Amino acid sequence: MQEFARAQRAAGRRIAFVPTMGNLHRGHLALVEQAAGLADVVVVSIFVNPLQFDRAADLEAYPRTLEEDLAALAPLGVAAVFAPPETEMYPQGRAAEPVVQVPGLEALTTDLEGASRPGHFPGVVTVVKKLFDLVRPQVAVFGEKDYQQLLVVRHMVRALALPVEIAAGPTVREADGLAMSSRNGYLSPEERARAPELYRALAAAAAAVRADPGAWPAARAAALVRLERAGFRPDYFELRRAADLGPATPGEPLRLLAAAWLGPARLIDNLAV
Ligand code: PAF
Repeated sequence: MQEFARAQRAAGRRIAFVPTMGNLHRGHLALVEQAAGLADVVVVSIFVNPLQFDRAADLEAYPRTLEEDLAALAPLGVAAVFAPPETEMYPQGRAAEPVVQVPGLEALTTDLEGASRPGHFPGVVTVVKKLFDLVRPQVAVFGEKDYQQLLVVRHMVRALALPVEIAAGPTVREADGLAMSSRNGYLSPEERARAPELYRALAAAAAAVRADPGAWPAARAAALVRLERAGFRPDYFELRRAADLGPATPGEPLRLLAAAWLGPARLIDNLAV
């Protein structure tokens, strides 16, 4: 990978990078297409990063579909797919891996996904920093579906002065509104039919807040009832400042973010307000 990156840069070619954990769906492929428009060559990584899983069972169950992923990428003209074994990313063993320290990260990671998944964001920044060092992209594309992750990566790039630009890819949805996610595959057909309620609850709350910012407490309460009625176990449903996930303040761009369990799957989604 290092040799490849060196050769591309020596030839004056810009590298766009799409990091993934594989099990690629249309959302990932849209990020790859976006990346192709931003640089001369696209590199995709496929690595199920053990450091960012807070539950061993989740790591174990995460789908690994390398052959299908390579077939899905083949028509997109990707220059390289980097799919390292764990021993190459973490030669000392995952327990011994020093976590990349990012000043000021806590302010972005103590709640929402950070509260529900301890250790998740330290694991993400560690692997993303190592991947950036190996792939040496000028630009990297991250999906808005993981909105907090996108802000965390942008923060890391600023805090560590990393020479890479971060582009955001819009969330890609199924026809019924469900955000594309590898975790959707955990749903039974019956759960899958109910899953778009998460998007509908977000869309209804976003519309209510757009019409009247004072409607937020009632909109939030209605969304939680709606989700519970549909069989979800809501984790959070929050309205935040879009720039840094601080408290929502009127007149600034806001982001509505939600996470909820449906059967075995923890689904997340978010919308701009
Ligand atoms: O969003 C993901 O798939 C992962 O968190 C990432 C960015 C590939 C790091 O492992």
